[in-house]
Amino acid sequence: MVIGRRGLLLGAGALALPALGGCRQREGKVRIGFIVKQPEEQWFQNEWRYAEQAAHDRGFTLIRIGAADGDRVLTAIDNLAAKDAKGFVICAPDPRLGTAIFQRAKVNDLKVMSVDDRLIGPTGKPIETIPHVGISARAIGALAGSSALEEARRRGWPIDGVGVLRLAYDSLETARERTAGAREALIAAGLPAAHIVDAPQRTTDTEGGFTAASPVLTRHPDLRRWIIVGLNDETVLGGVRAAEGLGLGADSVIGVGIGGSGTADAEFRKTKATGFFGSVLLSPRRHGYDTASAMFDWITKGVRPAPVTLTSGVMMTRSNFRQLLAAEAA
Ligand code: GLA
Repeated sequence: MVIGRRGLLLGAGALALPALGGCRQREGKVRIGFIVKQPEEQWFQNEWRYAEQAAHDRGFTLIRIGAADGDRVLTAIDNLAAKDAKGFVICAPDPRLGTAIFQRAKVNDLKVMSVDDRLIGPTGKPIETIPHVGISARAIGALAGSSALEEARRRGWPIDGVGVLRLAYDSLETARERTAGAREALIAAGLPAAHIVDAPQRTTDTEGGFTAASPVLTRHPDLRRWIIVGLNDETVLGGVRAAEGLGLGADSVIGVGIGGSGTADAEFRKTKATGFFGSVLLSPRRHGYDTASAMFDWITKGVRPAPVTLTSGVMMTRSNFRQLLAAEAA
């Protein structure tokens, strides 16, 4: 079956004869997989959307796969091989699957590159031979932290009375770096380190942020003004919702997320401001379009993607989100 398919593909690839039916020409297109850990998250939907655009522009077929655990990732890779894909881009549900992913890709003769979360090997170090596109986590976290503090100062909050809730997902390196960047920026700007409290989260969605934040905020009834930081918008929004549950609204909370996809957008569109003050807008285009496109060049021209590409972000609030999102879309 696979051999038959391959044979057909070889034939179709070799000729771009107009006499061939459209269907067979389509069969001849290069196939590229795009595996993401949380397909329900807006960020990943956006990555897929841009990857699809690359597929359209460059003439390949994109195969989107959501894989929330290790078994599904490995099955997905086998399925891609069965469909005669030549490579895939992946944001894995756990970076420690790195070695297994690398080997499964190799056995199946598939090229692999990672996006967002860098894959790690058995010693916990990144697998350098897998090209990676991620965000410049520390700098982006620092931007979130310093922007939050700037807003606190603008509001005239005495810094001594401000708590910082760090929603923590430290098992993921990019998440640890993002919130470490925020923490460092806040301390450098004069916030007492003792005021920064950690709330470890079990999942990186809004529910995970909410569940982590609630008990920690409850344990600090003395602090009535909070800055909330975390690895992404969903997490920070969970923290903001938890604070609302304790009577801490827009006047008492400055939540700054990371991402700028649908979650932040929906919050900014509300007529009344909430504690979700801002988000560092990332570029799903660079993570979706550029990665899929780079994979296509690797497959078709043998051009290996850069070993590591780190993208930047810009601060987005209610006051500038429409312009920034319009510019990103264009
Ligand atoms: C991680 C997070 C996502 C998103 C991406 C961006 O994968 O879990 O929410 O922030 O990074 O690179």
